[in-house]
This record gives sequence, C-alpha cells and structure tokens, in this order.
Amino acid sequence: MSAARRRSTSAKTEAVIPARPFHYGTGAGRDLLCDQVRLAQLAKEYGTPLYVYSATSIRQRVQMFADAFAGMRHTLCYSVKANSNLSILRMLADFGTGFDIVSGGELERVRVAAKALLDRVVFSGVGKTAAEIDAALAAKILVFNVESAAELDLLEQRARHLLKRAPVAMRVNPDVFAATHPYISTGMSEHKFGVEMGTAYALYQRAARSKYLEPTGVSVHIGSQIRSAEPFGQALQRVSELVRELKSQGIDIQHIDAGGGLGISYQLEDSETFDPQAAVNAYARQVREALAGFEGELLLEPGRFIIAQAGALLTQVLHEKRNGNKTFVVTDAGMNDLIRPSLYQAYHAILPLRRDTKRKMAVVDVVGPVCETGDFFARDRELPELTAGDFLAVLDAGAYGMSLSSNYNSRARAAEVLVNGRTHRLIRRRETLREMLTQERGLPSK
Ligand code: LLP
Repeated sequence: MSAARRRSTSAKTEAVIPARPFHYGTGAGRDLLCDQVRLAQLAKEYGTPLYVYSATSIRQRVQMFADAFAGMRHTLCYSVKANSNLSILRMLADFGTGFDIVSGGELERVRVAAKALLDRVVFSGVGKTAAEIDAALAAKILVFNVESAAELDLLEQRARHLLKRAPVAMRVNPDVFAATHPYISTGMSEHKFGVEMGTAYALYQRAARSKYLEPTGVSVHIGSQIRSAEPFGQALQRVSELVRELKSQGIDIQHIDAGGGLGISYQLEDSETFDPQAAVNAYARQVREALAGFEGELLLEPGRFIIAQAGALLTQVLHEKRNGNKTFVVTDAGMNDLIRPSLYQAYHAILPLRRDTKRKMAVVDVVGPVCETGDFFARDRELPELTAGDFLAVLDAGAYGMSLSSNYNSRARAAEVLVNGRTHRLIRRRETLREMLTQERGLPSK
C-alpha cells in the first residue's frame, strides 16, 4: 500500500506520500499498522468499535495544501463537520488552520479547542438561527457565508440589535455540474444551497448600503467528493466575474472562499496510483487560473481530503452466518458507527488486522448488528475467510464517520484514538450506557 513511487518536481525528486497511514508490517510482521502502531493492540486495549486516526497523515494533508497554494495568500478553514473531535481541532489549530462551521455547536467546539482562532472561522449553512448568529457575532468570527435574502435580513437585524457590523460573504450557486453522489452535490440551481448569481449581485448592493453589514467576501461550495478539478475552476471563474463586477460598483471584495469538496480515492487498488499531492496540485492549478488577477485572500474549506484517509474504523467479527447462498460476516460495528455505506452506497475498503495468506478467499457481505437491511459495510466483497474474534479495519473512515454516528438501536458511541508515529492516545472514551440515558427523565437516582 505504501509503494515508494517517485514523483519528480522541477527542483527535486521525493518519495510520494502514501494515501493512507495504514499498512501491513514488513518481514515477519503480518499485522496492520497505523503509522508504527499495531492496530490489533489498540483494538484489544480500547475495545471495538474504535476509530483510529493518524496525526502524521492529517499533518501531511494540511502541508499538501500549503505547498500547492504557496505564494498565494490563503487560509485553510478545515470543515469541522468532517470530524469534530476536540483533540483533532486543537491539533489542526496548531498546524495553523482556521475553521469552517455550520452550527452553534461547531462554534462551541472551536471556542473550546482553539479560542484564539475564532477570527479564522467562517460560518456556512442554509439555516442559521438568531441564537447561532448572535453567538457568532459575539465571537467576532471572520465571516458569515450567507445563503439567502432572508438570512441577510436576519443577520442585519441581529447585528443592529447587538450594535455590531457583520462581515458578509454571499454563498453563490454557480450552477455548475460536478459528478458526485446526488446527496452531496450542491452547486446547481436545483439545490437548496447558495443564491443565484443575479440575486447575489442585488444582495451585495443591499449589504453595502447597511450600517450593520460589511460585504467582505464571496463564497462558493459546489459539493463533496468531487474527483475532477475542472468544476472547481468553472465555479471560480464565475465568482471571479462577480468580484470584478462588484468592484466596478465600488464594492471591494477582500476574500474568495472556494469551499471544500476535493475528493479522494476510496478504492484500495488505487493506493498505488492515487497521489494526494498531485490531486491537490491539480485542484490548485484550477483555482489559481480562475482567480488570476485577484489580489485578496483565498479561503479553502476542505474536510474529507484532510482527514478521511487518516482514519479507520476497527471492528471485531462476532460470527459468520449463511442465508441461502449468501454469507454474512456480522461485526460489532454498525450503521450507527459509520453510516456512509448505508446512506450513500459508499464503498469502503476493508482489511483484516492480521494478514494470513493461507486463508482462502470468500465473497461475503460485511454487516452490522443494527436491525435494518441497510446496515452493511460491504456487499459481495471478496475477503479472506473470517472467523469470530477476527478484527477488521474499515478504511477511509476519518471523515463523516464518527461525526455522523448516532445512538440508533441504543448503541453507545465508539471511542477514538489518535496515533502519532509510535505513540497513541485516547481522544474520546467510549460512551457508557448510562451516559446515553442522562438527558432523559426516568433514570433511578442510584
Ligand atoms: N464547505 C461547505 C459549505 C460544506 O457544505 C462542506 C461539506 C464542506 C465545506 C466540506 O466538504 P469536503 O471537503 O469534506 O468535501 N456526509 C457526506 C459529505 C457531506 C458534505 C457536506 N458538506 C459524505 O460522507 O460523503
């Protein structure tokens, strides 16, 4: 998996950074490692289901953006929704990122993890409440990415009430098609996100007239898990035109927010060919080209690209069962822990924590214990034959894994561990059954 292919740059030749930090030990070792830590050891120490992330890998991804956008004034505002663990946010803050948030809850997380960086927070989302807006105004965030005329009105009203001036970027809907799953495509006029270009223009004029609003930026986000760089370029071309038009009207835009959305390869086979740095570079080329001549700051809101491949969900095989001609491998993790396969028919590679080349291969469904047919991690997947007690790693689960987890079926939420080279630490302990019930009435006092 960690094939040391070579990439030549104009100045030097360096080893390609592998897409994932997970790899089998070499030589006699047949254990799957994260960085230098044996995953089976973590599964035994902390139990399963368990999310494991590599700090090294996250740091590398942040650096890839820094390299690709070198020479261009930019801030990477990590999209908190992808993975909002406080320790991860704190680590990202140490790497110098800002944050893209979509709720008062995410604002609270950033406040707790990186209070000094609230001025690097962009607030996106189609349905901000008055209370959320008030909290963000009080926190003096960098900018509100406004998605409708109604939201602009509400923002002005709250700013007037609090005697503040709200920095505003209209999130425009560029009507650009980007190939991805329909649930996570956002940049076409039929989607609920953003405002049409024509409407945006009028809203900027309106904001510019207000004592309580200050138009500072333009934002765009066309969707998630987009593998080709061109749609980003197309969207930003349109943003560029708007910025020029606004300038001619005396509205000076200081920053352009290109949103998130850069995709990764979930295929295991692609780990030999998917070069994440090359993907960011291709993306950066499109962005640079579209924004040529723009002298302000660029904001970026990647989530998945930063953290998806840094994480895996570890789970233990409970047993195997057969129905008709199908074989099911039942695991102790379910759709409440990782919902992506159920919700988006997403493919996640699965590896045993111990490689045993003597085992025969079998075609199986890997399913969770939740009472829904949609509770699966893989269908008709060829895997080495598995038995009760074996551990598996569901790869590329660092983004939209834990953050989309729930207590469905009254299952307590998983623990999370952060690996850094040879060391590891628990960054969220496993939820207890009692904790799961605490907000409800009816608990006996002892
Ligand atoms: N900015 C905005 C305004 C967004 O709505 C999103 C993601 C991002 C940035 C980050 O996008 P990324 O770089 O991670 O693609 N749960 C789905 C993905 C939902 C994405 C929602 N918005 C999944 O698991 O595929």
